[in-house]
Amino acid sequence: KMRLAVLTSGGDSAGMNAVVRAVVKAAILKGCETWIVREGYEGLVRGNAEGHRHVSDKGICVSHKDVHFHEETFLHHLRYGDGELLRDGTGDHPGGRTLKGRYIVRVGWDDVRGWFAEGGTLIGTARSVAFRTREGRLTAAQNMIKEGIDALVVCGGDGSLTGADVFRSEWPKLVTELQSTGRITEEEAQKHAHLKIVGLVGSIDNDMSMTDLTIGAPTALHRICESIDNINSTAYSHSRAFVLEVMGRHCGWLALMASVSSGADFIFIPENPPDAEKWEDSMCKMIQSHRDVGKRKTIVIVAEGAVDSNLKPIRAEYVKDVLTNRLGLDSRVTTLGHTQRGGKPCAFDRIMPTLQGVEAVNALLEATPDTPSYMIGIRENKITRVPLMEAVEMTRQVSVAIAEKNFPKAMSLRDPEFSE
Ligand code: F6P
Repeated sequence: KMRLAVLTSGGDSAGMNAVVRAVVKAAILKGCETWIVREGYEGLVRGNAEGHRHVSDKGICVSHKDVHFHEETFLHHLRYGDGELLRDGTGDHPGGRTLKGRYIVRVGWDDVRGWFAEGGTLIGTARSVAFRTREGRLTAAQNMIKEGIDALVVCGGDGSLTGADVFRSEWPKLVTELQSTGRITEEEAQKHAHLKIVGLVGSIDNDMSMTDLTIGAPTALHRICESIDNINSTAYSHSRAFVLEVMGRHCGWLALMASVSSGADFIFIPENPPDAEKWEDSMCKMIQSHRDVGKRKTIVIVAEGAVDSNLKPIRAEYVKDVLTNRLGLDSRVTTLGHTQRGGKPCAFDRIMPTLQGVEAVNALLEATPDTPSYMIGIRENKITRVPLMEAVEMTRQVSVAIAEKNFPKAMSLRDPEFSE
């Protein structure tokens, strides 16, 4: 019987809850036991400070009384109780034991009911510093082994997926060390000789190679489009110019797709840095030409990672000043910020993570010590499995190729050690 845990890591994205739901339900249907890990890798490192509590497939049974709690309880406390599922003999659930300090929680079918409509990630996420250290990963391995877990599903960006791969390749050595230092028994070491891992890409940035879409990107894009629709009406009313800064880190996908779907006048993306000496002129010329044919409003989209040909960041405030000073436009800046990341997932961010979650469980069930860890993606509308590290490496190569094309001088000066 496979004993599987699922965690979300890095920046949250809409659809992560759908991943957790799909993984838990698919795994139970296929006869596995399931856990969630709270707060990403940080939860694996922190583990469960207190003694054991028991859980069945129907829900979390916490306490000596073996009380059963259904999903509202679980959801309520994850949402409002800061991760504290039950209070010690007080409050709504007398007799319950606190789950404060418990990060690896056994879950059942009902615990994830309705999760696909929830934004963010209900099990929490973090950018764990401890997991980046070997000692942290050693403790994480010990905590997993103590819970009996032998398979892990990670949903996060490329950093999180790289962490997963490092963890798996180190696993045999971690187990040997844990046994030799008496932190696990010989029997546990034998039982947990191998770790199975699979990754799903959760990121609003759509910045991973070998998959057409990352989980959360369609919702974030939709959110940006809605915001632009709102801005459009007020911009039109006052005949104003708006400069919108959108997220995406070093990737311009959100900005580019938002501009296509909203008919923006001008955009800046990191992949195509404009000439530092000329972009102000060309932007003003383009926008003036739109105004000349009667356009009452102007929308300029700036991706947060946009730079010019001298690698100088392009700031929305600066663009606004150019529009005001050179074209005399009444201009404003709107930074959409985290409104892009939060909120209910759109339909596709429920469907895709559901299909991918099922595929993740299949990949784990079929995994052998010799198969690579897979990343579950989507290509040409088909759910795919690709070796995780190939996708991470391809992503790196694409960024290097873009940088070499745009900044040949800077790239030729780079420290080869650093670039590795
Ligand atoms: O990677 C997702 C993302 O939302 C990026 O678009 C953005 O640059 C970053 O995370 C913001 O991170 P934080 O939530 O830590 O401010």
